Amino acid sequence: MEPHSSSLFERDAAWIAPTYSRFPLALCEGGHGAYLKAEDGTLYLDFGSGIAVNTFGASDPVWAEAVIAQVKKLAHTSNLYYSEPDVALAEELCRRTGMKQVFFGNSGAEANECAIKVARKWGHEHKGPGCHEILTLEQSFHGRTLATLAATGQAVFHTDFGPFPAGFYHTPADDEEALIRALDAHPGTCAVLFECVQGEGGVRALAPSFVRAIERECKRRDILLMVDEVQTGNGRTGTLYAFEQYGLSPDVFTTAKGLGGGLPIGACLLGERVRNVLGPGKHGSTFGGNPVACAGALNILQRLDEPFLATVRERADRLRKKAAAIPGVGAVTGLGLMIGLEVENARAVANAALEEHLLVLTAKDKVRLLPPLNLTPEEIDDGIARLTRAVAKASQAKKPD
Ligand SMILES: Cc1ncc(COP(=O)(O)O)c(C=O)c1O
Repeated sequence: MEPHSSSLFERDAAWIAPTYSRFPLALCEGGHGAYLKAEDGTLYLDFGSGIAVNTFGASDPVWAEAVIAQVKKLAHTSNLYYSEPDVALAEELCRRTGMKQVFFGNSGAEANECAIKVARKWGHEHKGPGCHEILTLEQSFHGRTLATLAATGQAVFHTDFGPFPAGFYHTPADDEEALIRALDAHPGTCAVLFECVQGEGGVRALAPSFVRAIERECKRRDILLMVDEVQTGNGRTGTLYAFEQYGLSPDVFTTAKGLGGGLPIGACLLGERVRNVLGPGKHGSTFGGNPVACAGALNILQRLDEPFLATVRERADRLRKKAAAIPGVGAVTGLGLMIGLEVENARAVANAALEEHLLVLTAKDKVRLLPPLNLTPEEIDDGIARLTRAVAKASQAKKPD
């Protein structure tokens, strides 16, 4: 009998806009922890977490309970009325980070759109009408809307979609002199926006000295420091947010992905300097602050406490050391459980990993691992065994007979 997935693939091809290059695998049967079940019952070990979303694994039961309780009570109110879950989540986010206010949207791109609007309005009000430019880094990734694409410092995403909103320019990561030159050449700059660890750009952690230079230049020039924590945030790098490890106090930071634990949410957090920059009618989103998404996110955030984050660092240490010892793996990059592996052919390794029933991602020329944060030592060892076979298989495949 033909597997169900072949007809699913055909229906997908017929009805879904083909924007994603999918792996030939349907995951419709649920899962538990780091394992997802395929239709034939095979368990796949998930080292991608739905691209850093499933913080506590597949449909984590504790998170699901919080979500179900809220969905049964009230799924949506609109932002015309007060509701409890978004306020509770904003309080907790601000209490944990020292930020002052939160705007909720539904995705990372939407959170970054908000940050861009805040920076521009602050620039106009604080420094004059010409002050609206935003500096971002080459190889950055900030989203797929037109403004966040313009902010994204990778030409590959820009082809076909111009013209873009003006007011963005880019400088190479980890080049302090170029940073200063770029800022000198753009006196109308209101903000610098960057990821502490570039995710889509190749799992590349910025040098602490470069981040300190950004902070120093922002202070010196009276411009906003904005950090994109969409991928790095919510415990992924071993602290609640990656900027903590760089000793930063951002004026604005954005997050999404793992905050929702499986449901869409985006958040733009505002510090003291930009508190109340957004007034009534200045921004909005029908589903922003949705009670169900916020109830789930609050559950995630409360469980990302310091003792748990310490275990994330331990897991990361174990996984990184073991990955570095795999024959065929070069440098191990990134931070915490946001891991890049230098290999000869990342795509070939990802395909070979699938044959080993291990789900991994790629980012540029690296294999990218973003496992659930509550991975067990046994799951780490299982994943390393599968990955070892996959790397060997990928290098074997390219050898001539
Ligand atoms: C750093 C960063 N910013 C923004 C985004 C966009 O997030 P979303 O896909 O939720 O819009 C991503 C997505 O990968 C990201 O990694």
